Amino acid sequence: MFLSFEGIDCCGKTTQAKLLVEKLKAENREVLFLREPGGTEISEQIRQILLNKKNLKMTQITELLLFSASRAQLVTEVIKPALAKGTVVITDRFVDSTSAYQGYGRGLHHGGVKGINAIATNGLMPKKTFLIDITAHEMYARRQASHQETDRMEMSNEDFYNRVRDGYHQLAKEEPSRFVVIDGKQPIDAIHTVIWKEVDGLLPTGDE
Ligand SMILES: Nc1ncnc2c1ncn2[C@@H]1O[C@H](COP(=O)(O)OP(=O)(O)OP(=O)(O)O)[C@@H](O)[C@H]1O
Ligand SMILES: [Mg+2]
Repeated sequence: MFLSFEGIDCCGKTTQAKLLVEKLKAENREVLFLREPGGTEISEQIRQILLNKKNLKMTQITELLLFSASRAQLVTEVIKPALAKGTVVITDRFVDSTSAYQGYGRGLHHGGVKGINAIATNGLMPKKTFLIDITAHEMYARRQASHQETDRMEMSNEDFYNRVRDGYHQLAKEEPSRFVVIDGKQPIDAIHTVIWKEVDGLLPTGDE
């Protein structure tokens, strides 16, 4: 089973993905946790280019294609073989990040982004996508509180993040059965409970 976590920066994707991984391991499930962009040797090299603050000249199309190249490698090398073995695969971001950030955020043509996404994934989509929703305002507050250094992708303005957030909502509206939209302002354990309830209901039982 393939699950992904989505949402704007600092919404709690990594926090929740890790909690879910731990829970699944405690239930004796085989689980693989991957972060995007990255997850293979080639994809990690692409990640360095994408996040490098020196690469200010990077065009929006280059950015789109690099994210997609990283993902194509991850799907073929890691995700598909793991799913074939019955492993639960959890990704911290996937194809919806490209639609939301490069499509809605950067304003690239939606049909084009969709086409490139389809090529990169070879049609493979998550069974469920957890969209953790916070405002851009909340994102800035959390970023300030954690004193993290910002990377190239994080150097965008509030309008950009508002467009990305609206884009995520649009994507969720288009595929309501895949998306689970969760208010990210709730306490961490309350969000985990919602996610676990969904996942527990989808896990194959040992009798199958
Ligand atoms: N439900 C929550 N309520 C308040 N703070 C939270 C919540 N979930 C996570 N945080 C805090 O917000 C910050 C960002 O969390 P996290 O790294 O999980 O987000 P993320 O979506 O993975 O961010 P990024 O996109 O930058 O990787 C951390 O300091 C984390 O402790
Ligand atoms: Mg994270």
